[in-house]
Amino acid sequence: MKTELLAMLRESGDFYSGQELCEHFGVSRTAIWKRIRQLQDEGYEIEAVKNKGYRLAACPDSIAADEVESRLESDWVVRPVHYFSVIDSTNNYCKRIAEDGAPEGSLVIADEQTAGKGRRGRKWETPPGTAVAFTLLLRPETVPPEKIAMVTLIMGLAVARAVRKLYGLDAGIKWPNDAVIGGKKLCGILTEMTTDLMSVSYVVIGTGINANVKSFPEELKDTATSLAVELGHDVVRSELIAEVVGSFEKFYKKFLQTCDLSLLQDEYNELLLNKDRTVRVLEPGNEYTGLALGIDKEGQLLVKREDGSVTAVYAGEVSVRGVYGYV
Ligand code: BTN
Repeated sequence: MKTELLAMLRESGDFYSGQELCEHFGVSRTAIWKRIRQLQDEGYEIEAVKNKGYRLAACPDSIAADEVESRLESDWVVRPVHYFSVIDSTNNYCKRIAEDGAPEGSLVIADEQTAGKGRRGRKWETPPGTAVAFTLLLRPETVPPEKIAMVTLIMGLAVARAVRKLYGLDAGIKWPNDAVIGGKKLCGILTEMTTDLMSVSYVVIGTGINANVKSFPEELKDTATSLAVELGHDVVRSELIAEVVGSFEKFYKKFLQTCDLSLLQDEYNELLLNKDRTVRVLEPGNEYTGLALGIDKEGQLLVKREDGSVTAVYAGEVSVRGVYGYV
């Protein structure tokens, strides 16, 4: 009831009479008042005016479960959302609940991670009150393990799309999955899969977005950016999480229809920053330069080499760099 009450007050933007709320929820005025007090205690500014009712005047920048749930338009995401003010890593927690049988669509969010994980064993910083870190649990029973890398590309696409829609920023994708603005990295994604004999048991897909982060350590200063830096003001993190998760759900359902990216390839290639640029492909024991043409339906980057042949590069251990900078 609290989540729905919050969503109703936010959507109306105006006063809701106590009577209307009582009728809607089928509860007493005291019950409504109790919920309003709880929300006020959590930092929501709610005006209560006699003969007018209640109006939501301001929201805290909370990413707690109620706030995110009240913004989610998805039926697929499992309620309650798992929220932590501090946790080691949302990916690690999500794996723990997956082992205990949590269903697909479970969502884990944290305001701070003490052992946030990046790709290739790196650390991922999640400073409290400013960053976005969340992990989704997937159980794609019909998808073979070798196709799972594609969900990471889908999440990159979802982040870039959400950022464009909510803030009008020119976000793109650096293959395979980094969301990038102005040549700098905005977001990182870490997908981890557990298999059971030859099939996928579960997949956790963790996303870290530099939302309201204002400064970066020396080694990242030239290659990382945040939404707050790009916009010159903070963003509402719960709105961002809800939009990214909603877009991901839509894309993921399309992926499940075909078990590949054939329904998403064009949309992905539109936002692919490497497209039509010269890239350096770094494979263990093999390095070469070529022109990136876009992805194929398996999510592989097609690179035209100097001799005219086209190589399909699989995400795995390969890294692709721009010849003139990060992209
Ligand atoms: C990268 O190195 O680019 C990937 C970074 C992934 C970070 C996210 S934050 C949420 C989730 N939990 C983790 O421990 N890592 C991922």
